[in-house]
Amino acid sequence: MLIAGNWKMFKGPHEAREFAAQIRRLPERAPGVEIVVCPPFVSLGPTLQGLGAGSAIRVFAQNVHSELEGAFTGEVSPPMLLEIGVTGAVVGHSERRQLFGETDETVRRRAQGALEAGLAVIACVGETDSEREAGETERVLERQVSVLPRHDRLVIAYEPVWAIGTGRTATPDTAQEAHAFVKSLHPTRVLYGGSVKPENARTLLAQPDVDGALVGGASLDPGSFDAICLAAAEALAA
Ligand code: PGA
Repeated sequence: MLIAGNWKMFKGPHEAREFAAQIRRLPERAPGVEIVVCPPFVSLGPTLQGLGAGSAIRVFAQNVHSELEGAFTGEVSPPMLLEIGVTGAVVGHSERRQLFGETDETVRRRAQGALEAGLAVIACVGETDSEREAGETERVLERQVSVLPRHDRLVIAYEPVWAIGTGRTATPDTAQEAHAFVKSLHPTRVLYGGSVKPENARTLLAQPDVDGALVGGASLDPGSFDAICLAAAEALAA
């Protein structure tokens, strides 16, 4: 079971360090739950400092370039992340796809480069509201998932775009159905993302093919992030 907090463009270095220091011992209270936080680039180092050497919480970036180095203004490479102690990265988040021009091909390249360099990857897929309404969910998922490399360090996050930041969580049945479909295409762990909160985490995580969650808004508050990680441990123990 994996719970990843995606902080998006929240928490600068100072706040990130303090937050990390507050949650550093959380894994001891959530047995069996792998916990990951994904701060903005400038806050990665401070987050690692706040967690300290003894914490089992891992730190991932929210994006990563595919190449080791080069003339790619504004990008950060896998070895640069590894050098400071970051062990993974999210790629293909729907905000990157919708607002920053990411395509299935750029997502594939980023995932491939990150995996080859030794990072873990959370690759995001998911349909929009209009795609679901048009009955295209499976076609979209198939297109997005088919380009992803097969690797034991790759995890897929199913994040229906209509559920992200909207408070409109997928029902446990809808999530389960999509996860089972994604796994039929790509046998790997699949996280659910989209308005996961302490109140709905337990039932979502109890679905057989929901292997964890990628949490945005509710990961920004130590109390709610804590509660989601504990709900994951409960779902695991049940
Ligand atoms: P949300 O975001 O939990 O705020 O809906 C999820 C995500 O974007 O990964």
